[in-house]
Amino acid sequence: MSATEEQSGSSTKSEGEKEYRVLEDLPGVGPATSQKLKEMGFHTIESLATATARELEPAGISEKKALDIIRHARKNVSLSFIRADELLRQRQNISRLTTGSKVLDELLGGGLETQTISEFYGEYGSGKSQICHQLCVNVQLPYAQGGLNAAALYVDTENTFRTERLVSMAQHLGLDPEQVARNVIVADAFTSDHQIFLLENADKVIKENNVRLIIVDSLTSHFRSEYVGRETLALRQQKLNKHMHKLIRLARAFNSIAVVTNQVMAKPDVFFGDAVHPIGGHVVGHSSHTRVYLRKASRGPIRIARLVSSPYLPDGEGVFKITNNGIEESDEPQKRGRIK
Ligand code: GTP
Ligand code: MG
Repeated sequence: MSATEEQSGSSTKSEGEKEYRVLEDLPGVGPATSQKLKEMGFHTIESLATATARELEPAGISEKKALDIIRHARKNVSLSFIRADELLRQRQNISRLTTGSKVLDELLGGGLETQTISEFYGEYGSGKSQICHQLCVNVQLPYAQGGLNAAALYVDTENTFRTERLVSMAQHLGLDPEQVARNVIVADAFTSDHQIFLLENADKVIKENNVRLIIVDSLTSHFRSEYVGRETLALRQQKLNKHMHKLIRLARAFNSIAVVTNQVMAKPDVFFGDAVHPIGGHVVGHSSHTRVYLRKASRGPIRIARLVSSPYLPDGEGVFKITNNGIEESDEPQKRGRIK
């Protein structure tokens, strides 16, 4: 099967091998085990392919059996050692999604990438949630218009998701607003544990609805308000790490884009340059492949985006604006190019 034939990163099974479609197809998984696995959040072969034996233990599965199940699940998904030419083919499977602003897309090397986590951080009102809303609409566009012809999953931790906003963005793009709203699945996360639980159980909804954009807005707000004080820091980082890990596994298994938003904290000891830094420390920094820092211009709709970290793109800045139509090009002169 060629990279172009198949959009999902989860179907690189070689010919002649048995294809497992549901958990019960896997050798050694009967109805009872399948039920337990589903209760634990493993609804699809893809999620088992990226699981560890220890994670399956609570289902009453021995380590040997767990390894066997994972091995079979991986046959479907092929996630083990691969040659560099195959890796290149997998990379060619990567699709890109437009942000709605050419300048921002260019900064990101042509838009947001599938199979990676992109983080937008910045202070309140800097446009993080607006970008998330716009991406939910854009992902539904056909490929020729920079979309992925797919649906979105929006994990909302701050109750800031608004269908009305999708509607005005959809109208501007000439899309049917009702259809657009139907293709955005929203999950309210009430606590950090609930947020973790939602992602742990997201695989089925992703697969069944052709979701190729997974948003967590905001990644850190619950963690920040629940884990206060130095003594809770280690536990918070451990949980955040696991959460990010789950997100990257979902993005890879379903060839989807993962987007997280993050607030900033003041750095009291910095006098030059940016006196803020994103929450979450190294855990979030190392798991976000692409980080974009958003700032408000002195006032009005103008926003400045700075690419702070990317695996292969130079740092740079670009300007866009937020209007009633959504994320749009700005008429302001652009500050572009390398900034380091
Ligand atoms: P926090 O979540 O509070 O950290 O902020 P955020 O970065 O998510 O900010 P958000 O994306 O919600 O941006 C809010 C800003 O977007 C507002 O202050 C407005 O400037 C702009 N905005 C939001 N909705 C509209 C709209 O319908 N029309 C216009 N013109 N601007 C809007
Ligand atoms: Mg927000």
